[in-house]
Amino acid sequence: MNKPQELERNVVVHRRRKNGGAPVKKKGQSQRIDGPHGSGYLSTRSLVKSYYKGKIEIPVLRGVDLNVVQGEFTTIVGQSGSGKSTLLHLLGVLDAPDSGEVYFDGQQIDNLPASARELLRNRTFGMIFQFYHLLPELTTLENVLAPCMIRESVWGYWRRRRQYKQRAEALLERVGLSHRLRHRPSELSGGEMQRAAIARALIQSPQLLLADEPTGNLDETTGQEIFSLLKSLNTEQQLTIVMVTHDRRIACQTDRVVQLVEGRVVENPSS
Ligand SMILES: Nc1ncnc2c1ncn2[C@@H]1O[C@H](COP(=O)(O)OP(=O)(O)OP(=O)(O)O)[C@@H](O)[C@H]1O
Ligand SMILES: [Mg+2]
Repeated sequence: MNKPQELERNVVVHRRRKNGGAPVKKKGQSQRIDGPHGSGYLSTRSLVKSYYKGKIEIPVLRGVDLNVVQGEFTTIVGQSGSGKSTLLHLLGVLDAPDSGEVYFDGQQIDNLPASARELLRNRTFGMIFQFYHLLPELTTLENVLAPCMIRESVWGYWRRRRQYKQRAEALLERVGLSHRLRHRPSELSGGEMQRAAIARALIQSPQLLLADEPTGNLDETTGQEIFSLLKSLNTEQQLTIVMVTHDRRIACQTDRVVQLVEGRVVENPSS
């Protein structure tokens, strides 16, 4: 698990300046949101989300305003059930808010057509889910390669398969799973599934990584190693990361900690 150079060779993350890089202007782009932390590379405005159990409303997010600066490593903490995963899903356009908006790189993204949201998730965002979401019928290596297969036509994938496989294997080596390439998820431990999910999130060289408790199922040492990997992607390659964690020791090693309290974001929580 100690080969950062190898990872760097194989994982090309878009290099952008921390706290500065001007966004690429897109045709017809909507307004850019500026907040107390500067230009919001990833921003939300008055985000509201409730779930419904029959007719009973379960309010979760009650007006979340968040600005994540490009290249920043932000952690979201909060009590169990406070809405951290819900917020991450809205940031990753996996779910839509009841009201409010999500902006990425100057463009409103919560209202994009389904196909455009799919593209964002496949090519621009890397997501690590709290419960892994690995495909049970695929091996570890195939799970990591799945986003490349989805991205490409059959012919395109076939042409680039060696390059993709090399990158997937390098990532799996980096997360310490070289010896489990042909195992299926049911044959992996929780921590191993977590590590496979991390490799999958990085395979497309994302511009933004959204990670829901990526160290939640790992022992302290492995958790710290995985965190160090994410931290090195952030510091060396300016990968913007938003991570949910319950681990305060890990949270305090990131650029910024925000807490979800009663459906809203509180900056720099002291406890
Ligand atoms: N699909 C759903 N239907 C109804 N209620 C839901 C649904 N998903 C989540 N909830 C509720 O919304 C609240 C927020 O859930 P969420 O998973 O975002 O919390 P969390 O902060 O990630 O918690 P944890 O730290 O335990 O992962 C919880 O009370 C949960 O029960
Ligand atoms: Mg959660």
